[in-house]
Order: sequence, then C-alpha cells, then structure tokens
Amino acid sequence: MSVPAPRRTFAIISHPDAGKTTLTEKLLLFGGAIHMAGEVRARGQNRRARSDWMKIEQARGISVTSSVMTFERGGTVFNLLDTPGHEDFSEDTYRTLTAVDSAVMVIDAARGIEAQTRKLFEVCRLRDVPILTFINKVDREGRDPFELLDEISDMLALDVAPLNWPAGMGGEFKGLYDLRSHKFLKPDGTGTNAAGATVQTTGLDDPQIDALCGPIAQRLRDQAELALGGYATLDADLYRRGALTPVLFGSALKDFGVEALIDALAEFAPAPRPQPALPEAVEPTDTQVSGFVFKVQANMNPQHRDRIAFLRIASGKFRRGMKLRQVATGKAIAINSPIFFFAQDREIADEAFPGDIIGIPNHGVLRVGDSLVEKDDVTFTGIPNFAPEILRRVRLGDPTKSKQLRTALTDMAEEGVTQLFKPLLGSQWVVGVVGQLQLEVLISRLEAEYRVAASFEPSPYETARWIAGDPAELKRFIDDNRGAMAEDRDGAPVFMARDSWELNYVTQRETAIRFSATRERA
Ligand code: G4P
Repeated sequence: MSVPAPRRTFAIISHPDAGKTTLTEKLLLFGGAIHMAGEVRARGQNRRARSDWMKIEQARGISVTSSVMTFERGGTVFNLLDTPGHEDFSEDTYRTLTAVDSAVMVIDAARGIEAQTRKLFEVCRLRDVPILTFINKVDREGRDPFELLDEISDMLALDVAPLNWPAGMGGEFKGLYDLRSHKFLKPDGTGTNAAGATVQTTGLDDPQIDALCGPIAQRLRDQAELALGGYATLDADLYRRGALTPVLFGSALKDFGVEALIDALAEFAPAPRPQPALPEAVEPTDTQVSGFVFKVQANMNPQHRDRIAFLRIASGKFRRGMKLRQVATGKAIAINSPIFFFAQDREIADEAFPGDIIGIPNHGVLRVGDSLVEKDDVTFTGIPNFAPEILRRVRLGDPTKSKQLRTALTDMAEEGVTQLFKPLLGSQWVVGVVGQLQLEVLISRLEAEYRVAASFEPSPYETARWIAGDPAELKRFIDDNRGAMAEDRDGAPVFMARDSWELNYVTQRETAIRFSATRERA
C-alpha cells in the first residue's frame, strides 16, 4: 500500500483585520494554488459569484469556496479549514476547531492580542490544540517585539519561542533574521508578491548584517541576543502539548515570513491526532475508515435542497464509492461523489486519508456531530451544541406560511446554524443562537431561500440548559416547570431561564437534575 504524504490540518484564528484573509491567500500562493489567491478575498455575493463556475458547485447549487483549502508544499499536504471571521462567535467556528490538529494565531503587530483572538485561543486550549503564532504587519509601525511577546506570554499563559526577529518595523524595516538558521530575508524591492531575497549569514556577528541593516544593525544584534537568551527555545514537544507557542514575525501582505510559517507547520505541527470517541479514541492508524461531520453547509441556490457535509477523516483510507454507516441511525450511505478540496479545483476524490476533509453532498441526512464508520461503531465525542445565549420567538409575516417556516427552521437547525426549541406550552417556536449575527443571517436566509418573511420578538427567556437525571426526578422537574420547558429538535428536554440569576437559583436548588450548557448528539 502506498504511504500517504504527511498531513497538516489546521485553522487560522485571529481578530478581524489582523490579516487572516491576506495570510490565507499567501499560504495558497506559496502552496502552489495560485489561482485561488485572488479569490479568497472576494466576499459575500462576490465570493459566491466567483465560485459559481466550479462545476460541482454549479450542479449542486452549493458554494463551498474556501471552507476547506488544501495545498501541497515540499511533499506535505496542508488542509486549511476556514473559520468564519466575524466578531460574533459562532458555533460553526468552535466546531471547525474540533476538526483541526493545530492552529495558527495571527496577531496584528500594532494591536497585540485582541478580544476575538483570545476567545478562539481559549477554545483551542480547551481541546489542547497547539498554536503557532504569526505576528503580522511588521512592514508597518508596530509595537515593540518584546512587549508583544510578553503580552502573549502573560495573557495566554504560554511560553513563547521566537523563531525569527524583525530588523526594524514600518519605515525602518530591513528584513527578518532567522534565529535558528541565521538566514536573513531582505526585501528585494519589487513590492507586493515578492518574497524577497535570502542571505545566509554566519550569525549575528557576520559583517553582512551591517550591510543588510545599516544603522539598525546593532539594534538587531542586541535585540536578537536578548531574545535568544530571554525566551524559551523551541521545544516541539511542549508546543504539541499546548504549553508553548513558536512565534514568527512577518508581513502577509509583503510575503514576509509566510514561507517560514509553512516550513514551521511542516516541521513541527502535529500530524493527524487521535480523535476522542467512544468506546475509545480513534487512532489515525486504525485500519477501518471512520470520521465525523463537523459542519454542514446548505446550498446558496433556493431551488436546491442539497447540503454538503464536511467529514474529517479520523482513520483508514477512504476510497470513493465506499459505503459508510451513519452510527446514529444505522443507515448505510454510499459516498459516490465526495468532494476533495484541492485549492486548484474541486476534484472528485478518489481517496482521502486521516486528517483530510471530504465534502459529502446529501439531502439533509447527514448532521453536525454525525459519526460515519466502515465497520465497527464508534461515536466521536466533543462536537457540541452550545447552549444559546440569545433566545427569540419567531413571528411569521404571513400566517399561511407556517409550514415553510417550520421546514426552514428545521433545515437550519440541522445545519447547526441555529437551535430550535418547541416549548411544551404554546405554539410559537423559539430559536436559539449563540451570537446576534446569526439572527441576521437567519432572517435573510429565510427570505432568500424559503421566501418566508419572518421577524423575531423577544422571548421571555434568555438562556437554556439541557437537563438530565433520574427519570422520576426529571418528570417531576418538567411537571413543576412546564411553562419554562421545551424540547430541542431531537426531543431532548430543555429548561429555559429568564435570566442568569434564575438559572443559578434553579440549578443550585435542583441538585438531582444535571444542567448542561452543551449537548453532544447521541
Ligand atoms: P482579516 O481577514 O483578518 O479580517 O484581515 P485581512 O487579511 O482582510 O486584512 C485586513 C487589512 O490589513 C487589509 O487592509 C489588508 O490589506 C491589511 N494587511 C494584511 N496583512 C498585512 C500586512 O502584512 N501588512 C500591512 N501593511 N497590511 C496588511 P484593508 O485596507 O482593510 O483592505 P485592502 O483594501 O488592502 O484589501
């Protein structure tokens, strides 16, 4: 059997505007996926329009552009999973992070750690996802490199190991000095899209440094020496355990440090890791094909009901045409036209390996959290639904459209875009979302895809918890709180609280009931 190329499956986490899109483009550019480079930037309608030419997308009416981007460099296959970049945190982002083995954290050199970076970092930490840091925009005036490194170290409680050092920033910027190889990367004067020229030096004492850095040569020497002495040296093991972050300075816009980032990912980012599952974690070396759905994306075309389920392969060698079993239902699914996300093109996949993502077109059978297996049942864990932070009642513009509304809400709940609760009393559905933006997306999709005019009105409830416990206790609790009870789309009981005070009060009093802010699909 042929040995698959090494895989690196990762995501980029950042605060909006730090440069994620630019870095993504450049990674694809250096990864040999040149024509994607201009396309990642196209946003909204534009992005959809551009991707329309892609055959499979056209046939299916689904745009999957830039959800997953695969590129290859130096014999390593990189799967870059896109996380939505908006301020609101979404469940989608969290779930995407369940499907990666590592993350690249992009920080703006002038701004340091920002709110969204931190939030996403915490999610990575929860799952022990190792992080490589890219301090971007050194071509502009930025903060002092030491200050930035100390901030990362203090705020995130991580050891930092700088791999390179900027010779000046902004107008003074002379290039990047690689602290390990002593190579100096200097701008070659041709502007954007030029990687610069590499000069091999013998170290900081090399007289070439004077020629390269002019008046700031001594500063580079002093700072780099201080950095080498004052910060941790790279320990790949500590990094993979999530205790240390290697740091690269660079400029995505000017192509500086991007190749070094790819090389660093290839050199020490983890290969596909064992995936948490029941009855036991699935090793990438297990022979049976298994994987889990971490994202479902609906069509952009209202005429089609097709979806694409994104399956992370956890083990085995997947071959096109295979039948996999959906563990939750026992149903066998023939996967005849999986989509492989080579950035050059959407290709029909012939085979995929652990760490790879395949897109499976389906009519709504596959759901977020689904485990698919070739032979023996395993249930992947840790792909949660999150208790919504915003609950809203849905008000229909045209009362004759209630059937369409129900279909639409169910569809979107299955995609994992929203959660849908049916109160035990009353007939109005309650939708739950984790962030405000999701409500806006919901309204516009209801109109565009389902021709349903709807609005949201405040619900008396603010937050919800799944409940579990001894059946008799559970029944008593539900009877006592009928007005605040609902069922989720799988019929699981949900307690809705008016505010956090009430939630606190009830959870403390009801010791026989387990309240849970997340629910994994059984
Ligand atoms: P995001 O996806 O993280 O939100 O960030 P994006 O890449 O869109 O970058 C945000 C802005 O920062 C863009 O400028 C982009 O050109 C700029 N930028 C990204 N990387 C660098 C860098 O290394 N150096 C400098 N100087 N700028 C960088 P914009 O004006 O908002 O957009 P555009 O008009 O350039 O497209």
